[in-house]
Amino acid sequence: MKRDKLVKAAEKLLEESIIYYQQRPVGTVAAQDSEQESLNYDQCFVRDFVPAALVFLIQGKTDIVRNFLVETVTLQKQERIIDCYQPPPGLMPASFKVESMGDKEYLNADFGEQAIGRVTPIDSCLWWMILLRAYVKATGEISLVHQEEFQAALHFILDICLGPQFEMFPTLLVPDGACMIDRPMGVEGYPLEIQALFYAAMRSARELLLPNEEGKAWINKINNRLGSFIFHIRFYYWLDIQQLNQIHRHKGDEFGEDVVNKFNIYPDSIPNWLTEWMPDRGGYLAGNLGPGRMDFRFFALGNLMAIIASLTSEEQSRGIMDLIEERASDLLGRMPMKICFPAVEGLAWQIITGSDPKNTPWSYHNGGSWPVLIWFLMAAALMVGREDLGDKALAIASPRLLEDQWPEYYDGKNGRLIGKAARKNQTWTIAGFLLAHLLRENPSQISLFSFAEDTEAAACAIPQR
Ligand code: GLC
Repeated sequence: MKRDKLVKAAEKLLEESIIYYQQRPVGTVAAQDSEQESLNYDQCFVRDFVPAALVFLIQGKTDIVRNFLVETVTLQKQERIIDCYQPPPGLMPASFKVESMGDKEYLNADFGEQAIGRVTPIDSCLWWMILLRAYVKATGEISLVHQEEFQAALHFILDICLGPQFEMFPTLLVPDGACMIDRPMGVEGYPLEIQALFYAAMRSARELLLPNEEGKAWINKINNRLGSFIFHIRFYYWLDIQQLNQIHRHKGDEFGEDVVNKFNIYPDSIPNWLTEWMPDRGGYLAGNLGPGRMDFRFFALGNLMAIIASLTSEEQSRGIMDLIEERASDLLGRMPMKICFPAVEGLAWQIITGSDPKNTPWSYHNGGSWPVLIWFLMAAALMVGREDLGDKALAIASPRLLEDQWPEYYDGKNGRLIGKAARKNQTWTIAGFLLAHLLRENPSQISLFSFAEDTEAAACAIPQR
């Protein structure tokens, strides 16, 4: 299959996935698979729409993105309702759907109260801010964001992210399944994906806030938080062979302010697989870090987004790409890219997933391979001058995606099998593939959603390890 034909086929499917509301395009369905029960795959998911939106912005089809942003502002909850089962102010929906009553259309949003397991979509409001900035960068229409409704929406999100909390960490504390991995997978606490999105969202907000009194106060809060946040991630989440050696020789139960093993990570918690798997060259950010607990699994979206947002230092970003290269057979396999590595199995699978039959080892969120991740990989690769890795991923995926009808995910240690319950014609698989191509052809478009090293926050004061 020639590249152009493949791109044309993907573009046609993307066009067909568009949802119309009052005759205006407002989003895309998650999948167009007539052979399976649609559940909520006929809805527009905020996170799934992002790669499609970026494709549209790059192609100059900015209307659909504008309409999406305008409509989602009206869906955001802006007041606390006494019922505890209602979404808190600031939250953006996981997904929404166009419904009709008589000849009137309306949007029905799901904030997790209908979702399987009632998971909270915390990433939605973060993606929303990242996309809003991308829209402004692509169109120059800053006046949209300066509208009262948009400023209020930003304030509500900032309030929920930066407001008073019990925590004494700069990272964001969230429940399990609050992001792309929206089923129990032991990603509660301080999961990397949320942290990387939180960072990119805060940097977006800083550019979008009107610098009036309220806006300035938020900018100060953001800068205070990001200074310690960036230090926390770069210093405490980073894993490479030197760091592993240090943890291996950590003392436990140290008391006081100046201890080395601040989070009391016991050496015995280093999983056996990691001592062999960690390459001599490169490293990655751990999946999670909290008191007495480090999740040593490699999570793709969080690591790649950390590079894209310059949350990692330049050296760390290069290190992550080196690790992906060194461990390509595990992480890229026969279908880039693994959502996380390795899978949890046996008793750990029973405890962590609650014996979830969809998240069995090497399937779906539990070590499955998700083609949508190719766009993150391409963007991160271009950021650090490793386009060879992005090209490699596209070369592996391209021959299969169309033939397999753009599956949602693949199964197996090397991603050879189409996912057990994968939807076909999954929109973000299609859009992710197109976006990877568009970025490769025109790398400057990365600036729509990427960030340079921060010079504004107190980040400059980060001590060296
Ligand atoms: C699954 C994925 C989630 C995605 C949704 C729609 O629930 O885990 O990340 O948004 O499907 O595609």
